[in-house]
Amino acid sequence: MNKDKFLEKIVIIDYGSQFTQLIARKIRECGVYSEIISFNKIKKITNDQKIKGIILSGGPLTITKKKSEALNSNIINLNVPILGICYGHQILAKKFGGKIKISKEREFGHAIVKSKLKSSITKNFFKNKKTLVWMSHQDIVHTIPSSFKKVAYSDNSRNAIISNENKKYYGVQFHPEVSHTQNGKIIIKNFLFGICKIKKTWNLKRQKKILITDIRKKVKNNKVICALSGGVDSSVVALLLKRAVGNKLTCIFINTGLLRKNEEREVINNFKKKLKLKLIYIDASKIFLSRLKNVNNPETKRKIIGKLFIQLFEKYAKKIKNVKFLAQGTLYPDLIESKTVTGSPSSKIKSHHNVGGLPKKMKLDLVEPLNSLFKDEVRKLGKELSLSKDLLLRHPFPGPGLAIRIPGKITKEKINILKEADYIFINELKKSNLYNKIWQAYAALLPLKTVGVMGDKRTYEYTCLLRAVTSEDGMTADFFPFSKNFFQKVSNKIINSVSGINRVVYDITTKPPSTIELE
Ligand code: XMP
Repeated sequence: MNKDKFLEKIVIIDYGSQFTQLIARKIRECGVYSEIISFNKIKKITNDQKIKGIILSGGPLTITKKKSEALNSNIINLNVPILGICYGHQILAKKFGGKIKISKEREFGHAIVKSKLKSSITKNFFKNKKTLVWMSHQDIVHTIPSSFKKVAYSDNSRNAIISNENKKYYGVQFHPEVSHTQNGKIIIKNFLFGICKIKKTWNLKRQKKILITDIRKKVKNNKVICALSGGVDSSVVALLLKRAVGNKLTCIFINTGLLRKNEEREVINNFKKKLKLKLIYIDASKIFLSRLKNVNNPETKRKIIGKLFIQLFEKYAKKIKNVKFLAQGTLYPDLIESKTVTGSPSSKIKSHHNVGGLPKKMKLDLVEPLNSLFKDEVRKLGKELSLSKDLLLRHPFPGPGLAIRIPGKITKEKINILKEADYIFINELKKSNLYNKIWQAYAALLPLKTVGVMGDKRTYEYTCLLRAVTSEDGMTADFFPFSKNFFQKVSNKIINSVSGINRVVYDITTKPPSTIELE
């Protein structure tokens, strides 16, 4: 996390929850600066006047095990308000003499929390003395410490909210930071402003400044290459780097042959001509295709692509003297889905090509200025950096490109068919003013040929799958409800203009249980 020693801040102690960055994000949304510190580095926290409050995150650890973590006294000695969330709630209660037990009934998902007592942490939180929250736990605070009061309860958490108003210590068993908790932000706001009395000092201008300063500190006098894909993330990284290190930056744009129709032309035009960035264009489509020949397995595809990307970056970096860094637009959700974050319960879902797909040994050091941010935050940052509206509102496109939208073996013929179908779908979305209402849309080519009839003739061709989702940050998603009219229009156009496809289907799964991409 970026540091600014001059700002009032909230310190979030991370116990390994996959939601820790969501807490930071909610705090940023409130205009407040925060820093995340891992629980095993608590001892390093010194008494700092700028710390106005502490939030203890959730986590996969369990207090009911013998060797469990105790809340370090360093935190108490700071003499600032504390909010414990889930595991943080339990560790706080335990510290002051509460009892934690394994509950017979797990509480996972939505739960109703009912109010018992007024508290500054729950001001405006309840409606008719109850509200909907999101829980994820097995242990519960069974008995509260004598210095605390029970503020609220749920069916399976008899002490769902507790408080010690004198000391300004609060514990909540649920997750106020996730969007499924109806009034979660109110809890965060009450803590920040009502309880910690922290000032609003955080905004995009500051964030931009800190990111640029951090890049300068890291890169020093060395040169950097930036892996440019033409999407919003890598474009924002390129603009930040341009401001931070000027002509020490060279962008490299690799045509994998797995891009969308006309994409290479558009990217070169945007970055070389409009944004005046130093850009090297590499057409590597042949080599990508040959390495992917006969590969079926999604993870193998991702690893091959990630490895080849790096090999090419390293090869071209050698041609420029003193290149030490590779910058890329990795976002926080890429990290959390690609690997098990230390101590976190999250398991590896897929190797995002810019994270899990990277080879273990790399000659270049990584610069990833966006790796604690979410997509919508990057878009706002892009606006602050004067990125054009077209680029800002572009749907996300994955690094492995069309490779992960062609399940099974990839061939040139399939890529060409898919490019045409995708182009038609996206164009129709734009024409119908739907493009900006959708978070991400694309066409995929299923490895499935079926029988059809066209002009009285039998056809035996591929199936095109359309996917369009709404989402806040790509972590969860819902399918977009198109009208029958729209479906008819798109399906007709695809079938009539793309030879090779005789059937169009629409993906109506949410994430979870599905993911947005097919592989
Ligand atoms: P999934 O399929 O995991 O996708 O639900 C979530 C978001 O991430 C994008 N995505 C990627 N982006 N490299 C990227 O830069 C990748 O390897 C990658 N895989 C998925 C996906 O398009 C969606 O927006």
